Parts: sequence; structure tokens; C-alpha cells
Amino acid sequence: PAFVAGKPMPDTGVLAQQLEQEFKGAYRENPESTGQVRSFELTAAPAEWGVVPPYRTAVWAYNGTVPGPVLRIKLGETVKVKLTNKLTQSTTMHWHGIRVPNAMDGVPGVTQPPIEAGGSFTYQFTPKDPGTFWFHPHLNSPEQIERGLQGALIVEDPKEPRYSQDLVWVLDDWLFENGASIYDQFVTGHDLAHDGRWGNVASVNGRYLPSIPVKAGERLRIRLINAANGRVFSPTFDGLSPKVIAVDGMLAGAPFPLAQFNLAPGNRLDLDLVIPKEAAGKSLAVSNHFGRSPQTLAFLNVEANTVVKTPAFEPPKAAHFPAWTEALAVPVAHEFILDAERGGPYGISWSIDGKTGHENLAATLPYGKFSRLRFTNQSGRLHPMHLHGQFFKVLARDGEPAQENFWRDTLLIGPKQSVDVGLVPLDKGLWANHCHILEHAEAGMMSTLKVE
Ligand code: C2O
Ligand code: CU
Repeated sequence: PAFVAGKPMPDTGVLAQQLEQEFKGAYRENPESTGQVRSFELTAAPAEWGVVPPYRTAVWAYNGTVPGPVLRIKLGETVKVKLTNKLTQSTTMHWHGIRVPNAMDGVPGVTQPPIEAGGSFTYQFTPKDPGTFWFHPHLNSPEQIERGLQGALIVEDPKEPRYSQDLVWVLDDWLFENGASIYDQFVTGHDLAHDGRWGNVASVNGRYLPSIPVKAGERLRIRLINAANGRVFSPTFDGLSPKVIAVDGMLAGAPFPLAQFNLAPGNRLDLDLVIPKEAAGKSLAVSNHFGRSPQTLAFLNVEANTVVKTPAFEPPKAAHFPAWTEALAVPVAHEFILDAERGGPYGISWSIDGKTGHENLAATLPYGKFSRLRFTNQSGRLHPMHLHGQFFKVLARDGEPAQENFWRDTLLIGPKQSVDVGLVPLDKGLWANHCHILEHAEAGMMSTLKVE
């Protein structure tokens, strides 16, 4: 723990209690249910999809589209999803970022048995938090998600202001060969030795370079979801300066500029963007600037000769967000060591604390108490670490205090980097904790945390 020489060490028990006090009310423990049940049916099955028309790509899809249908509900409503598996292999559904009852979390071998080919399973839960979430299989995910099984779950808060358009953009990339056929070797030695599978075609909502119609003066809420296996997106909007209002679904303590936010696999960002008057008739490029070669993702096609009135309101922000400035004085409850080793079924394994797979119960966290965790990356690759069922706040990077003013459920950890986070778990159960580079997770970078 950090302390100032000459001063007595703070009593960390009392300090932790203060941090819990500061946290109180940051987000709710139990859903506030309206009693309304919204039922959906999703069928996972092979389909054809035009990522790059006129090519037809053989994909696996929910209800025939990539991404699957947007499930949009209001806060307080109960989601009931019957998932039917028409693949030739087992699957499950994970509700990424949603604080579900543990049994609804979709992790095979941890929270439920696999849903076999021809079988079905009904998920039911009442989201506790409004925001941008997503769903995807949690079994053979390097192949199932890559082939197109992914979708958005939006929980609207009727109290939040109305934007001119509320857009959901699922970002992904595809590794195509022979035109637009999915390269069908998965979890390759190359993927494992690098940051997973990076494609050669990026897509927004399953389409290569879509043109999205907007009007000058419109104020857009754009919900970005990174559904790629490995690629990181750092989007820019043709000289415009969108504000980030939410990260990983949850409203930030204060809006902040988008510039240089690295959206890792699993992460979401909600943007607040006004299309300026001068843009009427123009086509604005949305590009990805992460890595060496920038790529265009989409165009905002601004209607000519039209300017609409811009809705005026303060960007929404979290009602309460703990500063947790003293949090680095609390000792680290568990340090996760992230590394690679030789061996295992793929020749290279990715490990947490030298172990692989969800049989590794890495830590037990006390329910309702403040815990400080450290992720230490001993490797030279990227690891977006995702913790199921919990939100956490970054406290320090490489020992330097870093006050991020927002919650996360997924955190990009760079080569040789060490990041400290704080959390107060309010959701009991056995929760997966893994790298969201799907190939790394498949090759072992997966553990569980118990909250009790
Ligand atoms: Cu989106 Cu366990 O993952
Ligand atoms: Cu990783």
C-alpha cells in the first residue's frame, strides 16, 4: 500500500469502509422490476449474409442476420429469451456486462451445461442497469462469434434524454479468403502467438463500409460495441469531437472526449455527437486509428440542403460516482499474473496465475466489500480482461494513480503493464474472468472469481 513517509499507515479496514460508503448508491443491488416480461426467440443457425455485396458469406447467425436482432427493452422489464440451437455443435449465450443471476450467465461448465445441437434453453433476467450490452456464445467462441453469432441488448432508461437518433453499431472484423469466405482455421498458432485473430475486412453491423444516413443538426447517440475476436478499435469521426457518455454500458461520472480511447474486444462506448450545419451534403468518414494502418469503418452520409434543430440538453451522466482517491492505500486482494507458456492442446497456452481454464478459482471476494485487484501482464501481448457480473474502476496503471471516471467490465492491459482496479461486488456467484481476445481465452486465459 502507498503511504507517505513520516505519516502513520492508514487503518485499511476503516479506509475500506469509507470506500464502501462512497460507493453506496453508485448502482443498484437489485432490479426495480415493472413486472413487464419481454419475450424473444433467437435461433442460432447457418445462414448467408452479404458482408461485402455481391458476395454471399456463409455465416452462423441469430435469426439469419449478423449481428442478430437488437434486443431493446426498458429498464425494469424482464428479458426472456428462448435460444434454439440449430448448429451442429453445442452453444450457450452470455449476456456481456449485464448483472444477471449467476445461473443465467451462460458459461458452460460454470453456470450451466452446454446447449446441445437441436436443444434449447430459456434465459430470463431483469437487467439492473440501463445501457449498452451485448450477447454472444461462450462455447467455442473463437469460431462461433467469428462466424457471426453476436448481438446487442439495449436497456433504455426512460429518464435519459432523447437523441435525434439512437444508433447501435456492432464493430467487427472478418478474416476472408477467396472473395468473402470465412477462413476456416480457428485458434491458429499465429493467432495465439499474437493478439488473436485479426481480420482483413472490418464491418459495422455486419456490413463492410456502410453509409449511414444522418442530417445536419442531428444529435446522435452512437452505441459502439467491439465484437471482434482480437482487434482493438480507436474510432475517429472526420474532425468531429464526440463525447463519451458511457463506457461498458454504464454512464460515466462526467462525459469526456473520445480521442484515443482504445475500444478493446468486449468494450462498449456510448457517444454523444452533433452533426454540424456545415456538414450538410457531405460524407463523413468514421475511421479506426488503432495500430499501424488506419482503416475506414463507415460513412455518415449527411443529407444535402437539410438542417434540423439540435436537441438541447446536458449529456447524461451517472447520478453518483465514487472518487475512491484513497483506494490505493488498501492492500491488493489478489494479483492476476497473465502470461504464456508452451504446451497444452494448442502448443501455446495463455495462463492466469500459471493455470489455465475456469477450473482455476483465482480469488474469492467478499460481497458488498471493497476489493482491490491487480492484473499484471508478464507477456508482450494485449489482454482485454473481462470480469463477468461486476463493474470495476481503474485505480492505477504501473503504480501511477489513474483516476478513470467510469466503470468498466473489460480492461485492455498492454504488454508488461500492471493495472490496479477497485470494486464492490454486489452480485453473488461464480463468475468467469478471462481475456476477451477469444483465442487467448480458448487457450487457457480464463479463471473464475467467487463472490460470497
Ligand atoms: Cu463477452 Cu466471457 O465474455
Ligand atoms: Cu489475451
